[in-house]
Amino acid sequence: MRRWQPARLAGAAGARLVAAGAGTGAEPGPRGASVDSRTVAPGELFIGLRGERSDGGEHAAEALAAGAWGVLVAPEHAERALARGVVLAHPQPLRGLQALARAWREELGEGGARVVAITGSTGKTSTKDILAALLSPHLRVVASPENLNTEIGMPLAMLAAPAGTELLVLEMAMRGEGQIAELTSIALPDVGVIVNVGPVHLELLGSLPAIAAAKAELIAGLGRDARVVVPAAEPLLQRHLRADLQTITFGPGGDVSLAEARPAGAPQARDHTRQPTPERAEGGEILIRLGPGALRRRDGGEGAQGQALVRLRPSFAQAHNLRNLLAAVAAARALGITPEGEELRVSFSSLRGERLQMPGGVVLINDCYNANPMSMHAAIDDLAETAAGRRVAVLGDMLELGDGAREFHRQVGEHAAQQDVGLLVTVGALAAEIGAGFGKEAIAVPDARAAAEALTGLLRAGDTVLVKGSRGVGLELIAEVLRGAGRAGDRGEAPLGGLVAGPRSR
Ligand SMILES: Nc1ncnc2c1ncn2[C@@H]1O[C@H](COP(=O)(O)OP(=O)(O)O)[C@@H](O)[C@H]1O
Ligand SMILES: [Mg+2]
Repeated sequence: MRRWQPARLAGAAGARLVAAGAGTGAEPGPRGASVDSRTVAPGELFIGLRGERSDGGEHAAEALAAGAWGVLVAPEHAERALARGVVLAHPQPLRGLQALARAWREELGEGGARVVAITGSTGKTSTKDILAALLSPHLRVVASPENLNTEIGMPLAMLAAPAGTELLVLEMAMRGEGQIAELTSIALPDVGVIVNVGPVHLELLGSLPAIAAAKAELIAGLGRDARVVVPAAEPLLQRHLRADLQTITFGPGGDVSLAEARPAGAPQARDHTRQPTPERAEGGEILIRLGPGALRRRDGGEGAQGQALVRLRPSFAQAHNLRNLLAAVAAARALGITPEGEELRVSFSSLRGERLQMPGGVVLINDCYNANPMSMHAAIDDLAETAAGRRVAVLGDMLELGDGAREFHRQVGEHAAQQDVGLLVTVGALAAEIGAGFGKEAIAVPDARAAAEALTGLLRAGDTVLVKGSRGVGLELIAEVLRGAGRAGDRGEAPLGGLVAGPRSR
């Protein structure tokens, strides 16, 4: 928005221009937007949103003092003599933010930018990170940072895209009916990706078909020339597909499928006993088959051949991320791009299954950003696939599952038993039910700190420990505690603070 004069920006936001500020230099507009007066950066537009407890508009003066380009606030805050900067008034600042994001997206689009929107029950952020990495060699890509995926975060992510952006990759979260429709009407995607449909936020929507319908609002809201990317043979989405839009499917039997995965050897863990090491390519070589449906051109013609193989070397190898990679390749094809032969280094957002080498020969898979039945099963599969020694699972509550919660937890326990988990620690009241499904002895504790304590004396060299639970359970504390214990060891105190029992590797 750098080139937008205050009046233009007010028009775009549907706001009233109360004060036009002083300077109109070569770059008269803001360089992004922020809703937090404590972190607003110089040159940004501050938007004062009404929250449940506080009203951001009250901090408008602070934001200007911090160097904000201007403020967009409710009328009652705009009138309060804001001498410096630009002041815009909107009766609903959130609507102003959204209108502004949409207008900015349209302007970027005139410059040739395209938008890929990604939703789904689990794996949105990871797919977004993979797609951004995959297309960065081809286009100037801007992706939502971390998890900015709500009616507030997504518009902010859009406004952070500078002029000249060629591709915006946006994550869309769903917390109820109508939300994806709203986000779609702001983002105006050229490609809509649904990663999967599963029992997440089941409590809110009641049933899997209702969840599928909520995700499918993305498909319903796409424009005439847009393309759709969905998992192959997902019965829950069939009735939502549109005959007028080209659809590219991914996964077994789909237009984009895995032809071959040649592993490069055991996965590498980041060594926390020394300086952090950069992520290494661990995924080996991946061959992806593109069928005719993925090669069709915009004019309806087919690609050179009816089928093609794409070779990639990703820095990851987990089965669920390879599925996400297929979705990303399908999205690339929807944009007319075929990535090929590339080394694909993805830095996943934090707490998404990062492997940490703990002192004492223990590897910890830190996957506690969130949890639901789908991602729990995927993470246990990954544990089983990659653990060299004993498989340890520390599993917390999966929240918001509604009436079926106990059953979903029990099934996770059954899955853990099938995958030969050797030691199970459950964290929280719901998670205790995982122990019931496990059928063997399990340790049940009430919270993360108790789990860290329980692990003391139980872990031994060679263990791989999966730590996963819903955000609210706060299991990231476990890695912190174990790491802290490790640091004590580095200082020459008891190795791992007495954490690791039994044989040690060194
Ligand atoms: N395609 C997938 N299927 C099942 N589980 C997945 C998938 N992708 C990621 N996960 C699991 O879900 C966790 C959260 O992934 P993330 O990409 O943050 O999802 P979202 O943004 O949808 O919440 C990951 O750490 C991993 O355990
Ligand atoms: Mg996410």
